[in-house]
Amino acid sequence: MSELKLGDKAPNFDAETSEGKINFYDYLGDSWGILFSHPADYTPVCTTELGTVANYKKEFEKRNVKVLALSVDGLESHKGWIKDINETQNTTVNFPIIADEDRKVSNLYGMIHPKADDTLTVRSVYVIGTDKTIKLMITYPASTGRNFDELLRVIDSLQLTAYNKVATPANWKNGEDVVISPSVTNEEADKMFPKGYKTVKPYLRMTPQPELKK
Ligand code: BEZ
Repeated sequence: MSELKLGDKAPNFDAETSEGKINFYDYLGDSWGILFSHPADYTPVCTTELGTVANYKKEFEKRNVKVLALSVDGLESHKGWIKDINETQNTTVNFPIIADEDRKVSNLYGMIHPKADDTLTVRSVYVIGTDKTIKLMITYPASTGRNFDELLRVIDSLQLTAYNKVATPANWKNGEDVVISPSVTNEEADKMFPKGYKTVKPYLRMTPQPELKK
């Protein structure tokens, strides 16, 4: 079982995908990345998830994020399944799906949780920053489809907090006020946040959201 943690370098790999052979780092280039696993081809929840991601392509592109899916079935199976996804989800799958038949990538990223299922992957999500380190890990069981609006929201927070000394409060959405990092003194905050800030408590200072960089 992989012991990957936030801040670790995302392991690089070569893989067969529905769009040809790829090297993970070359595929990401200077972009952010999402690597996410699906238990199996031709399954209902996975079909809706991949269709949703394809329909959100523009949202990922706006955030400079490259998407890479994984399923432990083979290439021929992926090709047939993609036709079904396109037909039923009213979309065109527009990102590669890894054919991880030997579970090389699944094992590298700890996507198989034997007590849940000893052969299929769970629904893992890894968000990788432009420095190739792991910024976010989320794990869902096979029975629960992911919320990709939440994933976009989290990416907005990750990108905002990567470049500004702020953090995002509960239920924050892009455009809403953020909190100033506790490590920033009031003197520094006066210079850093020209729109000003409100001190609710000395440790809780709210400021309008700074500009989002990617
Ligand atoms: C699904 O994608 O629908 C699914 C896959 C594996 C187990 C349960 C559901």
